[in-house]
Amino acid sequence: MAIKHNASPEIREFLAFYLLEQASSNGLPPGRLGPEVVRRSEGDLRPADADVRAAQIACWERGWLDSEHPFTDEPVSLSPEGRLELERRLEAARSKDVGADPREAAPDHLVSLVSPADESEVLDVGTGDGFLAKKLAAAGFRVLGVDIDASAIERAAAGCGANAHLRFQVADIHALAERGQRWPKIVASYLLHECQDPVPALRTISSCLEPGGRLACMDFAPNCAAYLSGVGRTPFHPFRALAQGDWHELAPQLGLTHTQFFCFGYVAVTYAQKHNAGDGE
Ligand SMILES: C[S@@+](CC[C@H](N)C(=O)[O-])C[C@H]1O[C@@H](n2cnc3c(N)ncnc32)[C@H](O)[C@@H]1O
Repeated sequence: MAIKHNASPEIREFLAFYLLEQASSNGLPPGRLGPEVVRRSEGDLRPADADVRAAQIACWERGWLDSEHPFTDEPVSLSPEGRLELERRLEAARSKDVGADPREAAPDHLVSLVSPADESEVLDVGTGDGFLAKKLAAAGFRVLGVDIDASAIERAAAGCGANAHLRFQVADIHALAERGQRWPKIVASYLLHECQDPVPALRTISSCLEPGGRLACMDFAPNCAAYLSGVGRTPFHPFRALAQGDWHELAPQLGLTHTQFFCFGYVAVTYAQKHNAGDGE
C-alpha cells in the first residue's frame, strides 16, 4: 500500500480505540501499538508513526492509561476514566451499524451522486456479479459492467436477458485505458481494497474519465465500526481500503476535484470529478 493514513481522523480514532481495547484485555504496552497492529493485521493496516504517537499521547493526556508516561514499553491497564471511554467508544461504533443498513444506504447514496441518468453510459469497473450495474440500470442508467474475471461476467449477465441499457463485458480496466476509452461517469464497488496497491488502479480509472467526468466508489470504511463488525477476512481487512485522508490527498494528484467522502457505518462512499480541460490540470 503506497499511501499513508496519516491525514485520516478515522485511523487515529481507531488506533486510540485499539489501544484502549488492548489495554483493557491483555495490557498491550503503548510502545508496541504500531508494530503489533501491523503484525496482527498482516499488513492490511500500516499506521504511520505519527498516527500511533498521536493515539498514544491522546489516550495518555486524557488520563485513560494507568501509566507514568505515554511511550512506556510496560503493559498498562486502563484508568477508571479509560474504561468509561472504551465503553463510550464501543457504544458509538456499534450504534453506527444499527441505523440505516450500510449495504443499502451506501449504494443508494452512490447512485444519487451520479444522478440524474441520461443518455451517456456509466462504466462499472470490477462489476463482479453486477450488483451495482443492475441497481443503476433499474434507476434508468445505461450501464457497461466490466470485470477481468470471465466467470463473474457470466454470472452477472445470467438472467439479464436482452437489455440494451445493461451490457457486461470481460475486460481489464488497464487495457480499456490503454485503448484510450473514456466515460463521463465511472463507478467501482469494493474494487480498491482488492488491489495490491489502490493508487495505480485509481490512476488508471481516473484516466478513463472524460474531462468533467464523475467518479463514485464504494468500499469498506476503515474505522472502528468495520473492525468491530468483523467484515472481511480479518477484523483488519477493511483497513486495506482508502481512508478519508488518503482520498483527499490522493484525488488531486490524479486530476480529480470536488472530492467528497461519506461514511455509512463500515461502508465508505468516495466521490470526485475529473478536471475540466482548461482548469489548469
Ligand atoms: C470484490 S469484487 C467486487 C464485485 C462487485 N463490484 C461488488 O461490489 O460486489 C472485485 C472485482 O473486481 C474485479 N477486478 C479486479 N481487478 C480488475 C481489473 N483490473 N479490471 C477489471 N476488473 C477487475 C475482480 O475480478 C472482482 O470481480
